[in-house]
Parts: sequence; C-alpha cells; structure tokens
Amino acid sequence: MDNYKRTLVTCALPYANGPIHIGHLAGAYVPGDIYVRYLRLRGEDVVFICGSDEHGVPITIKAREQGVSPQDIVDKYHRVMKDAFTGLGINFDIYSRTSSKVHDAHASEFFRRLYDSDDFITKESEQLYDPEAGMFLTDRLIEGTCPRCGNPKAYGDQCEKCGSTLSPEELIDPHSKLSGAVPEKRKTKHWYLPLDRYEPWLREWILERHKEWKTNVYGQCKSWLDLGLQPRAVTRDLDWGVPVPVEGAEGKVLYVWFDAPIGYISNTKELLPESWETWWKSPDTRLVHFIGKDNIVFHCIVFPSMLKAHGEYILPDNVPSNEFLNLEGDKLSTSKGWAVWVHEFLQDFPGEEDVLRYVLTANAPETKDNDFTWKDLQQRNNSELVAIFGNFVNRAVVLTGKYFGGKVPGNLKPEPVDAETLASIVPLKESLEKNLDTFHFREALKDAMSIARIGNKYISDSEPWSVAKTDMDRTASILYTCLQICADLAIAFEPFTPFAAEKLRSILRVGLDAGFDHRAGEGVKPADFGVKGTPGENFYAPGESRALHTRPFVILSEAEKTLTLKWSSLATSELLPPGHELGESTLLFRKIEDAEIDAQLAKLKAIEEARKAKEAAAAAAEAARKVEPAKSEITFDDFSRMDIRTATVLAAERVPKTDKLLKLTINTGLDERTIVSGIAEYYSPEEMVGKQICILANLAPRTIRGIESKGMILMAKQGDGKLRLISPVEVVTNGSVVG
Ligand code: MF3
Ligand code: ZN
Repeated sequence: MDNYKRTLVTCALPYANGPIHIGHLAGAYVPGDIYVRYLRLRGEDVVFICGSDEHGVPITIKAREQGVSPQDIVDKYHRVMKDAFTGLGINFDIYSRTSSKVHDAHASEFFRRLYDSDDFITKESEQLYDPEAGMFLTDRLIEGTCPRCGNPKAYGDQCEKCGSTLSPEELIDPHSKLSGAVPEKRKTKHWYLPLDRYEPWLREWILERHKEWKTNVYGQCKSWLDLGLQPRAVTRDLDWGVPVPVEGAEGKVLYVWFDAPIGYISNTKELLPESWETWWKSPDTRLVHFIGKDNIVFHCIVFPSMLKAHGEYILPDNVPSNEFLNLEGDKLSTSKGWAVWVHEFLQDFPGEEDVLRYVLTANAPETKDNDFTWKDLQQRNNSELVAIFGNFVNRAVVLTGKYFGGKVPGNLKPEPVDAETLASIVPLKESLEKNLDTFHFREALKDAMSIARIGNKYISDSEPWSVAKTDMDRTASILYTCLQICADLAIAFEPFTPFAAEKLRSILRVGLDAGFDHRAGEGVKPADFGVKGTPGENFYAPGESRALHTRPFVILSEAEKTLTLKWSSLATSELLPPGHELGESTLLFRKIEDAEIDAQLAKLKAIEEARKAKEAAAAAAEAARKVEPAKSEITFDDFSRMDIRTATVLAAERVPKTDKLLKLTINTGLDERTIVSGIAEYYSPEEMVGKQICILANLAPRTIRGIESKGMILMAKQGDGKLRLISPVEVVTNGSVVG
C-alpha cells in the first residue's frame, strides 16, 4: 500500500506463562522494534502495540501445578516480560494485558457483534468432563495408558513415548489429570467461526493480492488454503478468560486465540481512547503484524476472517514472520529450560543490550531456522562491534581530541579519496532503506555495518596519526571526513543498536530527529520534563513542532538542538560543521572475555545435566514398573512341595571378598541355620538383624564360597532388578507355613 498516512505495528502478544527468551526476540520483537524505529526516523506516524496474552489453558495448568491462581501467574510474568522489553530498548507505545478491563469489554463486544449478525455457527458435541473438578477437560488434561505401547502416562491427544496420535476414547484407564477421576461424557455447545465461508475471499486476498508477503508466510497460507478450511471453535469450557457474552454460555470463555488478537485493538484503545478508531478503521492506516512462525495461520487466516466478519476494521498489509531460532544446536524450550532468558542476559551483561540485539539481527532466522551460539555472540561482538564500529569511532574521536582540541577540523586539504569514500555510503543508504522497507533486517544491518567498515578502512589507509607528523592540514581533512562518517553511523545504527547510537550522539554532541511516539505516562507525566502534551497524545519538546527524542521525553541540550541529525541527512551532506565541539569520548562497546562466555556455557551445561538426570530418574522409575511375563501354569501339588516358612534373622555379616553376598544366621522355628543370600547391595548386615522374613526351607543345600547355605530368602525382584525383602505384615511365630 503506497498511499498511507500512518502505520500500526504490532508484535505478537506473548503468553504470560514464562519469561521472554532469545527465540521470542529473534522471531518478532527485535525486528518489530527495528522497523518501528526506522519508520519514526523517516518521520512516519506509528503506533507500536504489544501486551501480555494472559488467557489460555497452559496458564491454568501452570497455576494448578504451583498451587496459585492464574492471576498470580500472569501478574508475575507480565512484569518480567515488560521489564525485559524495556531493558532491551523495545519501546512499545503500550504494553498492556488481555486481563485488562478495556480488553474484556472490547473482546466481548467484538464477539457480540459477530454473534448478532449470525457470523457464527453452533455445534453440540460430547466432551469429556471431570465430575470431581467440575469442569470439561481438554485432551491434554486426560491421562491414561497408551493402547499402542503401554505407556501409562499418555495424553488424550498423543503418546509422547511412542509418538502416536490418540483420541481420549482410545486410552486405557483414562483419568483426569486434575482430580484423578474417571472422565464422563457430557454434551456441550460451542460457537464456531465458519472459516470455510471466508475461503474464497482469503484465496483472493492473500494469494492474489499479497504476493509480496515473505515466501515462508505466503507458502504456509497457501498450504492451509489448499487443504481447505474448517469451522473453528471460538469458545471453550473453562473458567479463565473472557466470558462468552451471550445467554446459555455459562462456564464458557472465548478461546484464547479469539480474544488475544483483539488485544491489539483493545490495547490501542487503552492507549488512545480518543483516536484509536483512526488507527483501526481508516483505510489510510497500514497494519503490520510481527510474529513468530507458529502464529502465521492465526494472523493470516483466522484473525483476518474475524476482522472481515466484523466489517469495520482494516486488514493487515503485511505479516512479517521469522522462522525459529535454536540454541547451541537444540530447539529452544521453555519447559525444558533450554533458553537464554532476556532478564538473565540483562543481569549478566549490564550495558550490553545492543550486543544481543545486534547478534539476533545479524543471525536472524529470516528465511530458515538458525542457531544462536555464545561463541558466535562473542565473535560478532569482538570482531565486528568492537573491532570495526567501536574502533573506528574511537580512533576518529580520540585523534580529533589530540590534534584539534576536540573540535571538528576544517576540510583544509581535501583529496579525491575523501569524497569518494563519502560517496560510497550513498548506495548503502539506498540499500539500507530498501532492505528495511521489505523486512530484510539481516541485510539491512550488513549495510549499516558496511558504513562502519568503510570508515575503519579509510582511517587505517589514510593513517592520520602518521600524516600528523608532517601535514596538519591534510590530517584535518582526514578527521573531518571520519567525523562525517561517525555522524552517519549515529543515524544508521539507531534502529539496530539504539543504545550505542545514543552514546555516539552524545560523544558527537548531536541530537537525532527520531520521530515521535505515542507513549503514555509510564508513571511520568510529560510535564515533569517540561514537555507539552497529555498522556495519549504526541509529546512535543519546548519550541518544537514535534518531539525530538529517542527515549521518553528526553530534552535536548542547546547543542543537540542546533545540531539535529535526520534520517534524510544520512550520507548526503556535511553533518558536522568545522568548529563543532565534540563531547567526552567513551567506548561504544567492550570486549567480551572467554570467561564470560564459559560461564554462560556452563550454565547451559548445568541445565542439560539437570534435564538428563531427570530423564534418567524417570527412566529408572519406568523400568522399576516393568513386570515380568507370567510363568506357565502349575498344579497345587507343584506348589505344595515348596516348604515356605517365616523366620527371623539373628546375625548377619558380609561374605569376605564379595560385594553381593551376606551370610545370615536365622531362626526358622525348626532350627537355627545359615543361608547365604545375594542381597548385600540392597541391605546392610545391620539392617538385616532382627528382621522377620520368609524363606524357602526345603531347597537342597548348596555351598557358596565355602559356606553351606540351607534354603533361600524370598525376595521381590523389581523390573529394574532391585531386590526387596518379603516380610509378614505382622510379626508371626517363626516356622509358620506360608501358603
Ligand atoms: N500468545 C501467542 C504466542 O505466544 C501469540 C498471540 S498473538 C495474538 O504464541 F495475536 F493473539 F495476540
Ligand atoms: Zn504409546
């Protein structure tokens, strides 16, 4: 869409049931933030919307496991996630939550409108119900024995052991995970969005009119459409969520994937109560959803069908989605703890936010799944950010301090290479814009980095430190050129590494017209900063027609105000005039040491080991449950030939030079005798003394290690081979016949 006036950018609302990890960041949030920063730099009007997705079954399961309420869970993770985003400079205009009042009302109203205009169909079906917990069970909440492999912990939809897909009816001994009760079938009615009705329209809208969508997104949509769409239930029997606002729907809530995307709208409404409709209903607003690949069908097929059914809202113009990021070769997993958590990164690497942003962009899974490794992070930091970008800026600024008292020197003795170098940045700017416009952030970052490479090569080749010994005028021109490139970097890196870009601008003592945002207060009133405006409106710096800030309400110094860079000035003109005084020189990036990386790898190793230990323990428990196959039938006579008796252990000692044998002296009621038994691995001599046990008394004597053993101690042998004694439940007379 070319003739738009504003862009509404959303990032998938993350589930509030765990913290944010690098996979989330790489999939949607870092690219979303880069894009928004870029649009703002270009002077476009943008709102950037996100928030926590606080409904859904997994949150209720987690709450139950921890013995707390779902609200406790979402309160905790909402905070953690919000802080993680802020910490990384991902500055949404609003980060709200789907448990908010505004959302509840808006999602309800949305459903009601579709309901009133007959956009739903209803279906009655039989579902499994837990009579003790008093609720319907989703397939995952039903457990039983797998009919294929005998795994006693198979779920109602799948056996994780043998991988078969199951239905709850197939399970042997099905029971509710919540109460253990046997589920019963009950009739229940649900509302469905008949996606099949929208299929022809979706085909035309996506497959014909949005051929420009990324191939992974377009491809997934096409295969969904080619499979044919079915009606999808938009309600659930659950007590956590937005209640279904119609009669006869008691105990039902909106399905989380129905209410969550409406959250984009309600969060906009919460942010801009007066003007939200312009953002959602005006055809000159462009809507862009940043998501991970598991969200494609919901954002490209389901939500657009909902919007279409509603009729008043605009549709997404693009849905840039990334593939998955892996960690050190393995799939990221919240439940297995296999992740790099953002809140931990921020703690372990304070002030290094940009490094993570940089690496996740340079290595973004834009077209295929990709791997994050700590070594790669270190490598990219040390050999790209530090050695190229940081090193170039530092040399330029320090030498300007040394030779020209920290003031931009005049271009006193230009040579063609200077202009050529500056001119070589022009095509990079064009490429940068093209790549950012088309969501190719990896390539865009390469373009920005190329500017730093050009600078670094130029300063190395022209050696101002040597030239200064003989020719101050030429030195002036070289540093003049270098400083122009530094200013270019302060603009070009703003979308990618905003903290470093800001630091660089304070070194250069310049401001940047970074556009304006729509952030409301965040607990600070604009007035606290001497800025005009009220929450929900744009904020303006004093005397300016638009706010000039990169962080909330930063007021620029006089110098910054007079020298304000713009995106449009990138690579085009003299950005820093001779005589302009630079600020204090500081390092933009610092080297990351091996020890820091080793510590992170050790952390991952510990996670892996804990998981392996857990798996081993589970496997052992499973093995212990194994039961030997039944033996062939015998007669009563066969049995009665065995003389089984109760007896008491009088003394016990290890048989020398063996690990397994105990020599036991026992009172059998008939006599006192010696039995050698292979139980030393499981019982110590001290434990045995005084125990009443059962023995096979008439087993022919055998000599074991030179000791005559008369009879055998009865033991239960578990599936894992472990032996446990068989004792009478109550003490009985020794010599009692067992049978
Ligand atoms: N909570 C979902 C996830 O983390 C994303 C929801 S996006 C929205 O996968 F559109 F529903 F909000
Ligand atoms: Zn199975």
